[in-house]
Parts: sequence; structure tokens; C-alpha cells
Amino acid sequence: MNESVIDEVVRDTAGRLVVHRHADVVAVADDPEAFSNAASSHLQVPNGLDGPEHAAARRLLDTFFTPDELVPLAPVLEALAAGLVDEAGADPFDAVEVGARYAVRAQSAWLGWSAALEPELLDWVAENRAATRSGDRAWTARVAARFDAIVRGLLEARRGSVAGDDVTSRLMAQRDASGRAWSDEEVVSILRNWTGGDLSSLALCAGVVVHWLAEHPEHQHHLRDAPDPALDAAIDEILRIDDPFVSNRRVATRATVVGGCPVAAGEHVVLDWRRANRDPQVVGDPDVYDPEANAPHNLVYGTGPHVCPGRGLATLELRVLVRRLLCAGTLVLDRSAPAQRESAPVAGFRTVPVRVVRGTPQ
Ligand code: HEM
Repeated sequence: MNESVIDEVVRDTAGRLVVHRHADVVAVADDPEAFSNAASSHLQVPNGLDGPEHAAARRLLDTFFTPDELVPLAPVLEALAAGLVDEAGADPFDAVEVGARYAVRAQSAWLGWSAALEPELLDWVAENRAATRSGDRAWTARVAARFDAIVRGLLEARRGSVAGDDVTSRLMAQRDASGRAWSDEEVVSILRNWTGGDLSSLALCAGVVVHWLAEHPEHQHHLRDAPDPALDAAIDEILRIDDPFVSNRRVATRATVVGGCPVAAGEHVVLDWRRANRDPQVVGDPDVYDPEANAPHNLVYGTGPHVCPGRGLATLELRVLVRRLLCAGTLVLDRSAPAQRESAPVAGFRTVPVRVVRGTPQ
């Protein structure tokens, strides 16, 4: 193996292959026959499924994310974002903390969960991130079990009551073509994956976007009044530059080659979305903001059959929050308390202290 080949595929501290070149990440994500998603021993619906089983699950679950499903949610999110921005007033606030609070409220509204769960869910988000940061697998497992217990309690409370038409009730009532309903274990797994995607990632995304905008005030002005597609494209590009969603795993189903490096059957391969999004061979200078040119290469929401089903929801949530912040005034970093970076394997920021300078935005 020559030096450049070693450089194209690296190994992490657990000895797993990490692909980080854009072309290699796309090649692995787009080849589910050679690279299976059954990389965990836990039931993961739909993440851990492959082939027809995965496609069937996605056909059912993607119905919860259609534009028709999301339209009625927009005014609810707008009210939540307005409440949070008003609460902050002119005082400094932590954009990651506000992002987490917004994510919990938005998700509870979407799934039909009680607002009374907010303190518990916020605490869970914080513990989940701390456990991930620590690399302590026993702690991560305890945090996962804690979430399962919260969800099982919600399902139990719904059973026997008149079926509502919120997303959680509809998921519980969903049937496939043969009339089979999701098992309890599957419902818990689906809600865990939806929530994992939403709560942790959204708070981190909010931190990254707010930080970048505060550092680039010249973009705040035109994005404030930009049409939705332009604001969405800007947010996607900011997240490409500083992607807080780090990686996912696959397992090789047969001996193969990736990035010029041999991979044995059964070997685990890590897709490094963050580095792939900054591959200079594809995007040139990775820090240059160019939404139009870089959109076709953007991997923030993944690619291939496992591409993020929640992209439309996340895009809507982020657009509503960011627009509300921009319309309130000018976002400036609170220089008395510098933003703190997260530590690996979590990316993005731990805290982003900012404030909104009210009045007519400049
Ligand atoms: C907040 C920003 C978000 C980011 C950056 C993000 C990113 C991603 C990425 C990169 C993948 C691909 C994983 C892979 O190929 O293994 C993915 C998959 C997934 N995401 Fe998201 N996501 C976000 C929000 C959401 C939301 C809001 C939901 C649902 C409520 C969600 C649910 C999922 C699920 C269930 C999968 C697995 C899909 C499958 O395996 O078929 N995500 N996400």
C-alpha cells in the first residue's frame, strides 16, 4: 500500500476502517449489497435493516415526513421559536441550549408528547451527549435504556385510551400490506431513531448555524428576507462547512476494496460525513461558502438508501428557528464567554453564547 492509499482510508482507535474521501463515502453508502447496515447487535428500525426489509420499512415510515404532513407543523414551530426568542430578550443566551429546548418542544408537538416531559427529555439529551463524548459503552447503553423506558411509558399510557391522531398514535396503529402492526420493540426503536436524529443533531445544528452567522454578519442581512429555498440552501451549506453529524457505520458483506484499501468480509467501515463534506477534491477550499456550487455534493443528510428520512422536518425546524432569530435583530457572539467546541466523537459546539441586538437589523 503506498502512502497516499494509507491516507485515503484510515483506522480509528478501535481499529475500524474510516473512509473520509467524498468519493469513497458515497461509494460505500451507495452499495448496500457490499456494505450492510446490520452493524449493531441491537434492533434498529430502519437504520439497521438491509434490502427489501429496509425498503418496506422506509415505505411505511416515510409517509410521516411527506410535505403534506409537515405543512400543518409550520405554524406550531413558528410559535415555539417566537416564544424562545422572546424569552431570550436582549440577554446573552446559549444557542445550543436554546436549540435543544426548541428541538424537544418541536418534537413533542410533532409526536403528540406532553410538554411535561420537557425537563426529562432535556436532561436525556445532555446525558446522551456526555455519554457519547465519554466513549463509555456501558454508560451509552444505560442512556439508551433510559430513553426506551420513557418511550415505553408513553406507549403504555396510550394503550387502552381512545386512539388519537398524533404521529405516535398513528405509528402504533400503522399496518403493512399484510395487516401486520409494528411490535412494541420496533415502535420503541423507530421512536429512538427519530428522536436521536432530531434532539441531539438539531441542537448541534442550531449551534453551528448561529455561530457561523454571528461570525458572518454580512450574510445575516440578505438571509433574513431570503425566500425559504435560499435560506434552506444557506443552512445546508453552513452545515456542510462544519457538519455536527459525524459518522455512521457499515459492515462489509464480502471481501472488497474501498479507496484502494482491501476490506475483509465482516470488517466494520465508518463513513466520515464530516470530512467527506470538506473534501478539497470536491469542494475546493472547504471553508468557502458557496451554497449553489456545493449543494450537489452536500452529504449532511447522507446519501443512498439510508439517506435521512427526517431531512424535510429538520430543514423546516432549522429554517423557522433561524429566521425568527434573524428577524429579531442582529446575532452577535458574546465575547465575554467564548463559544466552546464539543470534543470528539461529538462535533459542533458545546456552547455558543450569543445575543440578539434588537432594533432594525443592519
Ligand atoms: C437535525 C439534523 C439531521 C441530520 C444532520 C441528520 C443526518 C442523517 C444522516 C447523515 C443519515 C444517514 C445515516 C446512514 O447512512 O447510515 C440519517 C439517517 C436517518 N435519520 Fe437523520 N438527520 C437529521 C435529522 C433527523 C430527523 C429530524 C429525523 C427524524 C425525526 C431523522 C431520522 C433519521 C433516520 C430514521 C435515519 C435512518 C434512515 C435509514 O437507515 O433508512 N434524522 N440522518
